[in-house]
Amino acid sequence: MTEAERAYYDRRAAEYDDWYLGTGLFAQRARPGWAEELAALRAAVASLRFSSCLDVACGTGFLTESLHGLVTGLDQSASMLGIARARIPRGVFVRGDALKLPFRSAQFDCLVTGHFYGHLDETARRIFLIEARRVSKSFLIIDAAARDDVPSEEHQERVLNDGSRHLVYKRYFTPERLITEIGSGRTLHAGQWFVGVLA
Ligand SMILES: C[S@@+](CC[C@H](N)C(=O)[O-])C[C@H]1O[C@@H](n2cnc3c(N)ncnc32)[C@H](O)[C@@H]1O
Repeated sequence: MTEAERAYYDRRAAEYDDWYLGTGLFAQRARPGWAEELAALRAAVASLRFSSCLDVACGTGFLTESLHGLVTGLDQSASMLGIARARIPRGVFVRGDALKLPFRSAQFDCLVTGHFYGHLDETARRIFLIEARRVSKSFLIIDAAARDDVPSEEHQERVLNDGSRHLVYKRYFTPERLITEIGSGRTLHAGQWFVGVLA
Protein backbone atom coordinates (compact mmCIF):
# COMPACT_ATOMS: atom_id res chain seq x y z
CA MET A 1 0.00 0.00 0.00
CA THR A 2 1.12 3.54 -0.62
CA GLU A 3 1.73 6.00 2.19
CA ALA A 4 -1.49 7.81 1.20
CA GLU A 5 -3.46 4.55 1.45
CA ARG A 6 -1.97 3.81 4.87
CA ALA A 7 -2.93 7.32 6.05
CA TYR A 8 -6.44 6.75 4.68
CA TYR A 9 -6.88 3.64 6.83
CA ASP A 10 -5.66 5.42 9.93
CA ARG A 11 -8.21 8.17 9.28
CA ARG A 12 -10.95 5.62 8.57
CA ALA A 13 -10.46 3.57 11.74
CA ALA A 14 -13.38 4.96 13.79
CA GLU A 15 -15.85 4.31 10.94
CA TYR A 16 -14.21 1.15 9.51
CA ASP A 17 -16.64 -1.34 11.07
CA ASP A 18 -19.54 0.42 9.29
CA TRP A 19 -18.40 -1.54 6.23
CA TYR A 20 -18.82 -4.85 8.06
CA LEU A 21 -21.99 -3.88 9.91
CA GLY A 22 -23.84 -2.09 7.10
CA THR A 23 -24.13 1.08 9.15
CA GLY A 24 -23.15 4.72 8.50
CA LEU A 25 -22.24 5.31 4.84
CA PHE A 26 -22.88 1.60 4.14
CA ALA A 27 -26.47 1.61 5.44
CA GLN A 28 -27.97 2.15 1.99
CA ARG A 29 -25.69 -0.22 0.11
CA ALA A 30 -27.48 -3.25 -1.37
CA ARG A 31 -25.43 -6.31 -0.36
CA PRO A 32 -27.70 -9.36 -0.51
CA GLY A 33 -26.58 -12.13 1.82
CA TRP A 34 -23.75 -10.05 3.30
CA ALA A 35 -24.62 -10.46 6.99
CA GLU A 36 -25.21 -14.22 6.66
CA GLU A 37 -21.99 -14.73 4.74
CA LEU A 38 -20.01 -12.62 7.18
CA ALA A 39 -21.32 -14.82 10.02
CA ALA A 40 -20.22 -17.91 8.05
CA LEU A 41 -16.78 -16.41 7.44
CA ARG A 42 -16.36 -15.62 11.14
CA ALA A 43 -17.45 -19.16 12.00
CA ALA A 44 -14.84 -20.55 9.57
CA VAL A 45 -12.15 -18.43 11.24
CA ALA A 46 -13.40 -19.56 14.67
CA SER A 47 -13.17 -23.21 13.56
CA LEU A 48 -9.37 -22.94 13.25
CA ARG A 49 -7.48 -24.50 16.13
CA PHE A 50 -3.97 -23.08 16.12
CA SER A 51 -2.23 -22.45 19.40
CA SER A 52 -0.88 -19.08 18.27
CA CYS A 53 -2.07 -16.75 15.51
CA LEU A 54 -0.74 -13.51 14.12
CA ASP A 55 -3.27 -11.30 12.35
CA VAL A 56 -1.34 -9.05 9.98
CA ALA A 57 -3.02 -5.73 9.12
CA CYS A 58 -5.61 -6.61 11.76
CA GLY A 59 -7.42 -3.27 11.52
CA THR A 60 -10.12 -2.93 14.18
CA GLY A 61 -9.81 -6.62 15.08
CA PHE A 62 -13.21 -7.47 13.65
CA LEU A 63 -12.00 -10.84 12.30
CA THR A 64 -9.18 -11.21 14.83
CA GLU A 65 -11.84 -11.58 17.54
CA SER A 66 -12.86 -14.97 16.13
CA LEU A 67 -9.37 -16.48 16.45
CA HIS A 68 -8.70 -19.00 19.21
CA GLY A 69 -5.43 -19.44 21.08
CA LEU A 70 -2.77 -16.81 21.67
CA VAL A 71 -3.60 -13.88 19.43
CA THR A 72 -1.25 -11.18 18.21
CA GLY A 73 -2.42 -8.39 15.93
CA LEU A 74 -0.19 -6.14 13.88
CA ASP A 75 -1.15 -2.99 12.02
CA GLN A 76 0.56 0.20 10.91
CA SER A 77 -2.31 2.37 12.17
CA ALA A 78 -2.38 3.51 15.81
CA SER A 79 -6.10 4.33 15.48
CA MET A 80 -6.94 0.84 14.21
CA LEU A 81 -4.87 -0.74 16.97
CA GLY A 82 -6.63 1.32 19.65
CA ILE A 83 -9.98 -0.14 18.59
CA ALA A 84 -8.57 -3.67 18.28
CA ARG A 85 -7.04 -3.51 21.77
CA ALA A 86 -10.35 -2.40 23.31
CA ARG A 87 -12.21 -5.15 21.44
CA ILE A 88 -9.83 -8.00 22.35
CA PRO A 89 -8.25 -7.44 25.79
CA ARG A 90 -6.68 -10.94 25.68
CA GLY A 91 -4.72 -10.05 22.53
CA VAL A 92 -1.28 -8.52 22.08
CA PHE A 93 -1.24 -5.69 19.57
CA VAL A 94 1.84 -4.35 17.87
CA ARG A 95 2.34 -1.39 15.58
CA GLY A 96 4.55 -2.39 12.67
CA ASP A 97 5.04 -3.01 8.98
CA ALA A 98 3.47 -6.08 7.38
CA LEU A 99 6.33 -6.20 4.89
CA LYS A 100 8.97 -6.30 7.63
CA LEU A 101 7.38 -8.30 10.42
CA PRO A 102 8.99 -7.69 13.83
CA PHE A 103 8.79 -11.39 14.79
CA ARG A 104 11.10 -14.40 14.93
CA SER A 105 11.10 -17.06 12.23
CA ALA A 106 8.43 -19.73 12.92
CA GLN A 107 7.09 -17.73 15.89
CA PHE A 108 3.44 -18.45 15.07
CA ASP A 109 1.39 -21.52 14.14
CA CYS A 110 -0.81 -19.49 11.84
CA LEU A 111 -0.74 -16.09 10.19
CA VAL A 112 -4.04 -14.53 9.16
CA THR A 113 -4.55 -11.51 6.98
CA GLY A 114 -7.94 -10.07 6.02
CA HIS A 115 -8.55 -7.62 3.19
CA PHE A 116 -4.91 -6.66 3.00
CA TYR A 117 -3.26 -8.91 0.40
CA GLY A 118 -5.64 -7.64 -2.29
CA HIS A 119 -4.41 -4.08 -1.79
CA LEU A 120 -0.77 -4.96 -2.50
CA ASP A 121 1.08 -4.43 -5.78
CA GLU A 122 3.16 -7.25 -7.24
CA THR A 123 6.40 -6.35 -5.44
CA ALA A 124 4.68 -5.95 -2.07
CA ARG A 125 2.84 -9.26 -2.56
CA ARG A 126 6.11 -11.08 -3.12
CA ILE A 127 7.68 -9.55 0.01
CA PHE A 128 4.57 -10.21 2.09
CA LEU A 129 4.46 -13.90 1.14
CA ILE A 130 8.15 -14.33 2.01
CA GLU A 131 7.51 -12.72 5.41
CA ALA A 132 4.34 -14.76 6.01
CA ARG A 133 6.17 -18.02 5.31
CA ARG A 134 9.09 -16.96 7.50
CA VAL A 135 7.11 -16.25 10.69
CA SER A 136 4.42 -18.92 10.42
CA LYS A 137 3.85 -22.53 9.41
CA SER A 138 0.41 -21.83 7.92
CA PHE A 139 -1.27 -18.74 6.65
CA LEU A 140 -4.85 -17.76 5.90
CA ILE A 141 -5.65 -15.06 3.37
CA ILE A 142 -9.16 -13.62 3.48
CA ASP A 143 -10.12 -11.21 0.76
CA ALA A 144 -12.88 -9.89 -1.47
CA ALA A 145 -14.57 -12.38 -3.81
CA ALA A 146 -14.56 -11.84 -7.56
CA ARG A 147 -17.96 -10.65 -8.79
CA ASP A 148 -19.51 -9.91 -12.18
CA ASP A 149 -20.10 -6.26 -11.29
CA VAL A 150 -16.47 -5.41 -10.42
CA PRO A 151 -13.23 -5.76 -12.44
CA SER A 152 -10.61 -8.11 -11.00
CA GLU A 153 -8.48 -5.08 -10.11
CA GLU A 154 -9.13 -1.36 -9.98
CA HIS A 155 -8.33 1.90 -8.28
CA GLN A 156 -11.37 2.87 -6.21
CA GLU A 157 -12.36 6.23 -4.85
CA ARG A 158 -13.36 5.96 -1.18
CA VAL A 159 -15.29 8.66 0.71
CA LEU A 160 -15.16 9.08 4.48
CA ASN A 161 -17.75 10.59 6.83
CA ASP A 162 -15.89 13.90 6.73
CA GLY A 163 -16.32 14.03 2.94
CA SER A 164 -12.63 13.43 2.21
CA ARG A 165 -11.86 11.31 -0.89
CA HIS A 166 -9.10 8.70 -1.20
CA LEU A 167 -7.82 6.41 -3.95
CA VAL A 168 -7.26 2.76 -3.06
CA TYR A 169 -5.93 -0.11 -5.22
CA LYS A 170 -8.01 -3.27 -4.80
CA ARG A 171 -8.20 -6.75 -6.30
CA TYR A 172 -10.95 -9.39 -6.20
CA PHE A 173 -10.29 -13.15 -6.11
CA THR A 174 -11.69 -16.55 -6.78
CA PRO A 175 -10.25 -19.12 -4.36
CA GLU A 176 -8.65 -20.90 -7.33
CA ARG A 177 -6.90 -17.75 -8.52
CA LEU A 178 -5.62 -17.04 -5.03
CA ILE A 179 -4.36 -20.61 -4.57
CA THR A 180 -2.61 -20.50 -7.96
CA GLU A 181 -1.03 -17.15 -7.14
CA ILE A 182 0.32 -18.17 -3.74
CA GLY A 183 1.38 -21.61 -5.00
CA SER A 184 -0.61 -23.88 -2.66
CA GLY A 185 -3.53 -23.93 -0.25
CA ARG A 186 -7.08 -25.06 0.26
CA THR A 187 -10.34 -23.16 0.26
CA LEU A 188 -11.62 -22.37 3.75
CA HIS A 189 -14.40 -20.09 2.59
CA ALA A 190 -15.85 -19.44 -0.88
CA GLY A 191 -18.77 -17.05 -1.09
CA GLN A 192 -20.31 -14.21 -3.01
CA TRP A 193 -18.52 -11.58 -0.91
CA PHE A 194 -15.45 -13.18 0.63
CA VAL A 195 -12.88 -15.85 -0.10
CA GLY A 196 -10.58 -17.51 2.42
CA VAL A 197 -7.60 -19.68 1.48
CA LEU A 198 -5.50 -21.57 4.02
CA ALA A 199 -1.93 -22.35 2.91
C1 LIG B 1 -8.82 -3.02 4.56
S1 LIG B 1 -8.08 -2.91 6.16
C2 LIG B 1 -8.28 -4.58 6.73
C3 LIG B 1 -8.47 -4.67 8.23
C4 LIG B 1 -8.79 -6.06 8.76
N1 LIG B 1 -7.75 -7.01 8.51
C5 LIG B 1 -10.09 -6.59 8.20
O1 LIG B 1 -10.11 -7.64 7.55
O2 LIG B 1 -11.11 -5.95 8.42
C6 LIG B 1 -6.38 -2.84 5.75
C7 LIG B 1 -5.48 -2.64 6.96
O3 LIG B 1 -4.11 -2.74 6.54
C8 LIG B 1 -3.34 -1.87 7.35
N2 LIG B 1 -2.06 -1.68 6.66
C9 LIG B 1 -1.83 -1.11 5.45
N3 LIG B 1 -0.53 -1.18 5.12
C10 LIG B 1 0.10 -1.79 6.16
C11 LIG B 1 1.44 -2.17 6.41
N4 LIG B 1 2.42 -1.92 5.51
N5 LIG B 1 1.73 -2.78 7.56
C12 LIG B 1 0.77 -3.04 8.48
N6 LIG B 1 -0.53 -2.71 8.30
C13 LIG B 1 -0.87 -2.10 7.14
C14 LIG B 1 -4.22 -0.64 7.47
O4 LIG B 1 -3.85 0.20 8.52
C15 LIG B 1 -5.59 -1.28 7.66
O5 LIG B 1 -5.89 -1.48 9.01
